[in-house]
Amino acid sequence: MKIAFKTYGCQMNVNDTETMAGLLIEAGHEIVEKEEEADVVIVNTCAVREKAEKKLYGKLGRLKALKKRNKTLIVGVAGCVAEKEKEKLLNRDEVNFVIGTRSIAKIPEFLERAAKGEKFLEMSDYLDEINWSTPRYHTNNHHAWVTIIYGCNKFCSYCIVPYTRGREKSRPMDDILQEVRTLANKGYREITYLGQNVDSYGKDRNDGSNLATLIRKTLEIPEMDRIWYLTSYPKDFSDELIEVIASSDRVSRSIHLPIQSGSDKILKAMNRGYTKGEYLKLIEKIKTKIPDASISTDIIVGFPGETEEDYLETKELLESIRYERVNLAMYSPREGTVSAKYFKDDVSHEIKVKRLNELLELQKRINREINEAYKAKELPIIVEGTLKDGKLYGRTINNKIVIFEGPKELIGQKLSVKIGTVTAGPLYGAVENHSVID
Ligand code: SAH
Ligand code: SF4
Ligand code: F3S
Repeated sequence: MKIAFKTYGCQMNVNDTETMAGLLIEAGHEIVEKEEEADVVIVNTCAVREKAEKKLYGKLGRLKALKKRNKTLIVGVAGCVAEKEKEKLLNRDEVNFVIGTRSIAKIPEFLERAAKGEKFLEMSDYLDEINWSTPRYHTNNHHAWVTIIYGCNKFCSYCIVPYTRGREKSRPMDDILQEVRTLANKGYREITYLGQNVDSYGKDRNDGSNLATLIRKTLEIPEMDRIWYLTSYPKDFSDELIEVIASSDRVSRSIHLPIQSGSDKILKAMNRGYTKGEYLKLIEKIKTKIPDASISTDIIVGFPGETEEDYLETKELLESIRYERVNLAMYSPREGTVSAKYFKDDVSHEIKVKRLNELLELQKRINREINEAYKAKELPIIVEGTLKDGKLYGRTINNKIVIFEGPKELIGQKLSVKIGTVTAGPLYGAVENHSVID
């Protein structure tokens, strides 16, 4: 059968789609881009905010119309909204099956059942069946996502993820390393270790494994030029991890360390488990030990009870830390979470939008200022691919995207590129001004 995927949400969803697609190809199916050409459409969904969830319903509306023209079309819903809405989704006419975030390993079987006309919901946990030998359909042949820990135990009061992904479950370290070796043999040179909280990696295994050890062992695989990791949790970011990052320039300097708010009162209500002071101390420590660290963050504006003073504390924090990148979001109550149940969503939409826009503007200015400092500098990058306009792009070890002109043969190579112009986003290389490193 021909299968089209539509993936929303985080990189873990992207990696789950890659796994489902890999398994389906192994079972003899074909992955297609266009839904119009597909026999099956699988929507891998995100429930983190209402806006993300709404994307599914828009998509289902369009698929319903498509089903009128293609009566045999099968529609499956996977991912976090599937976990959250369960039967409610299955009850929709256009939906044939709904599967949970821990059921992806069984996708070939599910497809067979759906093809026989069965309409079903499947939420069982088959994560143990996913290992290094599971086929994965990677869309990039230079960099690969590698999920190392599933689920989340943190229960931040606003967050749906612990409900949609279940408790933390780390993969055995040997299994992960075997996957990385296999990727290296296939020509992959960069990986990103994924987890909602990568610093929790190993804690549930009681075998001494942790992220620092995993990275250290990964460094023994010489083909892996760069090791990235996402997302870090401020309270669990260990000294040992800082040491490992500092020890090798093959470990990414890009540290995504969400703070969420600059106000201790709000952090407490969010159940984040750290204060602003503790967070700032950690940043200091990272910057001392890893001077070229590039720190990014996530912020929620308009959390219940956020006063103008609380908001200004967040704003001041962005001014003082000067992050390399900030993901900003307006608070969105998620059914079933503590904050949705017990805290009134009392910051008006208007104020949320105002705060969001102010912080967006501020961060844009900071990004531009930070990027100005790169002008005329020679930056080492690895070339990742081409953009639509034919230009090449690559990344520095601290996650700066550099766009420049050059031949396609440079993809995968390490280059030094002289920066010409800069924006608040990517940096642009001076034309034809690059040289290959080693
Ligand atoms: N595990 C990561 C983030 C996972 S969700 C961490 O702990 O930081 C990604 C981001 O979505 C969060 O960092 C948060 O900023 C945002 N987010 C999560 N739930 C939200 C909600 N209910 N409303 C608005 N933003 C939310
Ligand atoms: Fe959500 Fe908090 Fe877990 Fe991140 S750490 S996924 S914000 S509960
Ligand atoms: Fe969204 Fe689920 Fe990821 S809610 S952010 S897809 S873990």
